[in-house]
Amino acid sequence: MALREKVYWDSRTAFVLAAIGSAIGLGNIWRFPFICYKYGGGAFLVAYLVALFVAGIPLLILEFALGQRIGGSAPVALGKVNKNFAWVGWLAILVGFIITTYYAVIMSWSANYLVHSLTLAWGDDPRTFFYQKVLRLSDGIFHIGSVSLPLILGLLVCWVWIILSIWKGARTVSKVVYVTVTLPWAILIILVIGGLTLPGAGEGVKYYLTPNWRQLLSPELWQAAFTQVFFSLSVGFGVMIAYASFLPPNSDVVNNAFIIGLADASTAFVGGFAVFSALGYYAQLQGVPVEDVMKSGPELAFVTYPAIINHLPLAPLVGVLFFVMLLTLAIDSAFSLVEAVVAGFMETFGVPRTKTNIILGALAFVIGIFYTTQAGLYWLDVVDHYMTFFGLFAVAFLESLAVGWFYDTEALRRKINEYSLVDIGGWWNVTVKFVVPLAAFVLLVISVISVIKAPYGEYPRTAELIGGWIPLALALVAGILLGKATARTLSQG
Ligand code: PHE
Repeated sequence: MALREKVYWDSRTAFVLAAIGSAIGLGNIWRFPFICYKYGGGAFLVAYLVALFVAGIPLLILEFALGQRIGGSAPVALGKVNKNFAWVGWLAILVGFIITTYYAVIMSWSANYLVHSLTLAWGDDPRTFFYQKVLRLSDGIFHIGSVSLPLILGLLVCWVWIILSIWKGARTVSKVVYVTVTLPWAILIILVIGGLTLPGAGEGVKYYLTPNWRQLLSPELWQAAFTQVFFSLSVGFGVMIAYASFLPPNSDVVNNAFIIGLADASTAFVGGFAVFSALGYYAQLQGVPVEDVMKSGPELAFVTYPAIINHLPLAPLVGVLFFVMLLTLAIDSAFSLVEAVVAGFMETFGVPRTKTNIILGALAFVIGIFYTTQAGLYWLDVVDHYMTFFGLFAVAFLESLAVGWFYDTEALRRKINEYSLVDIGGWWNVTVKFVVPLAAFVLLVISVISVIKAPYGEYPRTAELIGGWIPLALALVAGILLGKATARTLSQG
């Protein structure tokens, strides 16, 4: 076995915060509220909780058990399950690495907007400002144009910040997360309270939560609920496996998984109040119904929110708070993805940490420059779709298959229970063997069918090939080769 620095989390709290920091991110504030609204408000919450308990938390317990009980980063832990599965761990972290290359770019937009907040630089037309001044978006995915210096500068700052945060692995992360997890929570609470006191807020919240129970019968709602749970918990990218591998041997992973899963879900739920109260206010201001101002994704954070901020007292301060919240929400997700890759390389090849940190950070920074071009947003959209949908579900499927069918789950469950306050019952074996692989497989098939029917986002097929299938194929081939190296390292043991 290659060199393994014996580094543990400073404390259990540090681990829990780090895992929560990875889980809560843009997905909680951007994605959850809108999906919830779209799929029947209160009814979606029910489906979400079902998905969380039958698949999300069991998978989280599985990833923790892989990292902590079986031991190691994703490739090593899966290689110990069965050496023919080490490549699955690599696939997970390579897909995760591709995600970080653009995740950091969204952080760079936020960093630029943090500066713009000081002067409300977006003026009366935040939409034009975002698309034409900041992104300088071209009219098509193949019109690449030039790179943006302010975005590159922001990207550089974010990368330095990411690499410093994982400088000594869990030891540094243990300290950083006390700020980067609690600060966005504090700001979120301020934004919720401030938001709910705005005129029209109630109307917005009504949109968010009014249940449409009939939707519980629609398969799309269930698909959306499982997708959101998997993505939001950061499972399937090797992150939670690596993080759990820095836990001391006597840790209670069951309890931790429940705390983290519930903290993530409640952050998303509470985040919805900040978003929808502000939208309700904005709708009233414009004299239009709430659905007319509904926007998700980049539009919400970089167009709609700035437009709302213009009308608030203490506008620049609210802007600064909002973008500091986005940055601190995103940073722990970003560095958790990098840490998962660093741990994989260190354990397989025995390379030194600092050098690996710097090389991976520099590589991701250089790749990220591409997303600062005038077609950057289009490419980001394509790559994101392919990585999160296909990568995540494929890994979740293979991982549960590996442990459920090629390992003694019952023995693993007993090992986990040795240190858990509340034992997990035999139901866990059933979820790992049947529920998780089945859910992940169905989601994977649905995703594949949908892009076969029509290209994602109506982009040309060649763009899908370049931004989607080729990176996935490269990750797969590299994963298989690296998996062989991990298997060799393990057999030298
Ligand atoms: N869970 C994060 C979010 O909700 C995204 C993420 C996925 C982060 C995978 C790390 C790994 O935004």
